[in-house]
Amino acid sequence: MKRKDFSKVHAASKHPARVALAIVKDKNEKYNMITLEWFMKTSIKPPMFAISIGHTRYSHECLQSFRFFNLCLPSKEMTDVSKICGSRSGRDIDKFEVTKVDWFNGKLAKLPILKDAKANFECKIVTQVKSGDHTIFVGEVKHSWLDEEKEVQTVKDLM
Ligand SMILES: Cc1cc2nc3c(=O)[nH]c(=O)nc-3n(C[C@H](O)[C@H](O)[C@H](O)COP(=O)(O)O)c2cc1C
Repeated sequence: MKRKDFSKVHAASKHPARVALAIVKDKNEKYNMITLEWFMKTSIKPPMFAISIGHTRYSHECLQSFRFFNLCLPSKEMTDVSKICGSRSGRDIDKFEVTKVDWFNGKLAKLPILKDAKANFECKIVTQVKSGDHTIFVGEVKHSWLDEEKEVQTVKDLM
């Protein structure tokens, strides 16, 4: 065991990490998706998830105004979707149009549920906290969706 820089230790020890997509809505009622590695379950009863979103992301702006998100766990077959949503901004493109993902409206806030995903969790934001250059948005899960046949995507699938 050797003492090294944080970035080196973190990069060498973070795999296997799952990928998520957070689906949000902007002020013009347009949907957006952002690829995330920084998310986690934070409560059992009620079920809650936290997502950490950079202050510069368009999705950050969306989450400040529309207080719901859908946390989607994409399947292995959705690597192109995660790559596009993790490299392009909703300020510049319509990611739903570009990725051509299949979706239907959820039950909570009508945010898209992605049909080819492993799972989708519809969340209502209950609190948020600033964490350096990111904000942690904590959402209570109201509805959960599962496709038992799909395999969950990891960050390694995107490399
Ligand atoms: C594998 C991967 C993981 C990422 N994880 C996060 C994350 O946890 N939080 C974050 O704010 N950005 C993360 N990003 C970067 C955003 O997905 C990226 O900046 C995106 O283009 C922002 O989109 P937006 O401007 O439409 O919100 C990640 C990107 C990739 C490729």
